[in-house]
Parts: sequence; C-alpha cells; structure tokens
Amino acid sequence: MVFYFTGTGNSLYIAKQIEENPISIPQVMRQDHLEFTADSIGIAVPVYGHEVPSMVKEFLKKAVFHTDYFYILSILLAVTMSLSMAACGQNSDNESAAADTQEQSTSTAQSDQATDEAGSNTETNAEDTPENGAAEGKTLVVYYSATGNTEAVANYIADATGGDLFELQPADPYTDEDLSYSNENSRVLQEYEDESLRDVELISTTVEGFDEYENIFVGYPIWWQIAAWPVNQFIENNDFTGKTVIPFCTSASSEIGDSGKLLEEMAGTGNWLEGERFRSIASEEDVAAWVDSLGL
Ligand SMILES: Cc1cc2nc3c(=O)[nH]c(=O)nc-3n(C[C@H](O)[C@H](O)[C@H](O)COP(=O)(O)O)c2cc1C
Repeated sequence: MVFYFTGTGNSLYIAKQIEENPISIPQVMRQDHLEFTADSIGIAVPVYGHEVPSMVKEFLKKAVFHTDYFYILSILLAVTMSLSMAACGQNSDNESAAADTQEQSTSTAQSDQATDEAGSNTETNAEDTPENGAAEGKTLVVYYSATGNTEAVANYIADATGGDLFELQPADPYTDEDLSYSNENSRVLQEYEDESLRDVELISTTVEGFDEYENIFVGYPIWWQIAAWPVNQFIENNDFTGKTVIPFCTSASSEIGDSGKLLEEMAGTGNWLEGERFRSIASEEDVAAWVDSLGL
C-alpha cells in the first residue's frame, strides 16, 4: 500500500514505481475513518524547502497504520533532488514519522533503485518547479460560464495556481432569452425538462497538451442543483486517468451537492476531490484560500 501527495507529478511518478495504483492523500483525507492495514505501507511526499505539505502532516497525525514495514519517501524539490527512505518498523508512531520526514537519510537498496528509476523525470520537473511548489504549467482550469460569475472564479484559480485556462464554449451560445428559466419556452427550461436535449455541442473539448496536466479544475454554474450541462461533453470526451480533478461551481444559493459526484460518474476516470461552491459574486481571497487548502 503506497500513499502519495503530489504537486508536480514527481511523487506520483515515484509512487507508481513501487505500486501500480497508489492512493492519493488528498482523496483519502475525505474519509472519516483513516485506518490502514497492509504488509508494507509507504508514503511518497514532496518536501518544499524544509517542510512536507501541511495536508501530509495532518494525514500522518490522523491515520492509524497497521503494518510490519512503514516507510516514507521524501522527494526534495530544489536545486538538488534527493530521495530518502525511512523504515520505521512495526506500528509506526505517526507523529514522529511526520517530524522525521526530512531527517531520515538512511539509504537502502530500495531507495537507490527508486532514485535511479525516477531520476530523469524528477530532474526535469524539478527545474520547472516554482519555489512555492505550485504546479506551474501542470494545472488546468476548465470552465463553462453563462454570465461571467464562474469565469471570475476560474480566473482567480488560474492566478492562484499559475494554471492555464480553457473555456468551454457551446457551438450555439446561450442568449439571455435562452437562460430565462422563468419563461416556460426558454431553451434552458426545455433542456431541463427533457434530458435528451442536454447534450450541448461544444466548439472544442480538446485541450492542447492535456496529458501533461495533473490537476484539472472543472468549473460550472449550478443549474437546478446540478452542473450546467454544457460541461458534460468535455467530461465525456476526456480521459482523466492519473489526474486529480477538482470541481468548483457558483450558484445563487444551492450547495455543490452531488454535482461533482455526477460528473465523476460521467467521466469514469480520475481522482475526483469533493470540490467547492462559491457564491455568484465570489471574493478572490475566498477562492485563493480554498486553493491553498487543497495543498496541490
Ligand atoms: C438555468 C439556470 C438555473 C439555475 N439554477 C440554480 C439553482 O438550482 N440553484 C442556485 O443556487 N442557483 C441557480 N442558478 C443561478 C446560477 O447558478 C448563478 O447565477 C451562477 O453564479 C451563474 O454562473 P455563471 O455566471 O458562470 O453562468 C441558475 C441559473 C440559471 C441560468
């Protein structure tokens, strides 16, 4: 069993050298009960400056591990990159595991092997890694916005992450009249009442270099408690395997509800986080604080 926390892809890459399907720490943190049993349990985490990300510390504090072999791979992302592995023995003390992350320097045959296998990838990424650990060039913010509210949030997220923006544009754009849901003949109301009309054609669902993005924010307004359906075609047409997908939305009053979960089901791939709802006129500070809390 291997857990990973990744900002730039290095930790995921290394975790995958050890196990085919490592477990994302941000995703597992959504569970109420964090207790794990396995013959061996490993944690692959980046170290920015002298710190592991705060979510990793929290995970190590909260989780209980039952294992004969517990180890932490700390991936130092700086001018030089090194990797160390700490074998902490049976029923590890989580607090000390967190504190020890940078101190452990015991090189084992296994850690050397992981370094060799990961070497070329991690060095390339390390050069691209900004000091704050944001995944520059690796975060994509995809959004649909009918009247500009979700677009504003998408812009704040792109600013906070250094990510790239991709706007979903219906081939047949919605006019004010189309959006007038109190009018029973309006386009949105007809689409709402007849699900078969919700397959909205987009100008493009193809993002250049999509494979290189690791974190995908997907934004939409809430329409009748679910994601506005112009996002659907993008979700259906792309493969999110290996990517962290973070839904976000704006609404007058509704919560995010099941909107993200429904998109996750539609996609069938990707590690989907719970996501966040913002009010129609969201503040940049609120958005930036939320992005920060994700620890990407
Ligand atoms: C067709 C339609 C349905 C809506 N349904 C809801 C809803 O169920 N709950 C809610 O709180 N707001 C609802 N709203 C309000 C929008 O979610 C809100 O204004 C949002 O910020 C618009 O984002 P945008 O400017 O990016 O399009 C609806 C708006 C429209 C046009």
